[in-house]
Amino acid sequence: MVKSFKKKLLIGALSAMVCCSFAYEAEAANHAEVNPMAVSQNVDYLVFVNKTHKLPDDYEAKLPLITVKNSFGREFQIEPETYRHFEQLRAAVKQKGIQIELDSVYRSVARQKEIVAEFTQKYGADYVKQYVAVPGYSEHHTGLAVDICLVVDGKIIDDNDEMIAQKEIFAQIHPLLAEYGFILRYPQGRENITGYSYEPWHFRYVGIETAKKISGAGLVMEEYMK
Ligand code: DAL
Ligand code: ZN
Repeated sequence: MVKSFKKKLLIGALSAMVCCSFAYEAEAANHAEVNPMAVSQNVDYLVFVNKTHKLPDDYEAKLPLITVKNSFGREFQIEPETYRHFEQLRAAVKQKGIQIELDSVYRSVARQKEIVAEFTQKYGADYVKQYVAVPGYSEHHTGLAVDICLVVDGKIIDDNDEMIAQKEIFAQIHPLLAEYGFILRYPQGRENITGYSYEPWHFRYVGIETAKKISGAGLVMEEYMK
């Protein structure tokens, strides 16, 4: 969840103006078609990035990214397989009457630097340590990490605290993640291992088989990669 206050105001105002059905109509027009033949080659879906593991130096140069839009027309760059599976997850979640949207996906090291500066000014260094990775150490550099926002009664929920408060909604989303190749990367109660506070919105694509192994065993990626 990283966005400027101004942008939040704008999106909030826009979402107040659009009703749900409009949002769903816009969705069909905006989402990119992913050609299944054009899936990524040579992507390391288990690339391990955390507070002590920097993104490998050559990773970004090889990273295949496509540009997609969420239902509100915001553009994102994302690794193709991650997007294909995210769209399937989104459809499964929609079956439960819940709307999720992309909120932050691929971020360059330069963008991460801006976020750190923005958040340090707004919330202070302690908060940044809990929620924002040091540039070069963010999973968002991989194109395989997805932050979602929720749309509840036509209103976008993307603020960290408001998201964390949506316990019932996330309790319905999280059990579906592994089926689509995602893990909840920063779960509650594992902060001492992941190094980050609980982020119910941050999903990491690792592939279906691995996601099932990790979540089935109740592990976090740090434990699985040991
Ligand atoms: N919010 C996660 C930890 C990041 O900044 O990559
Ligand atoms: Zn994230």
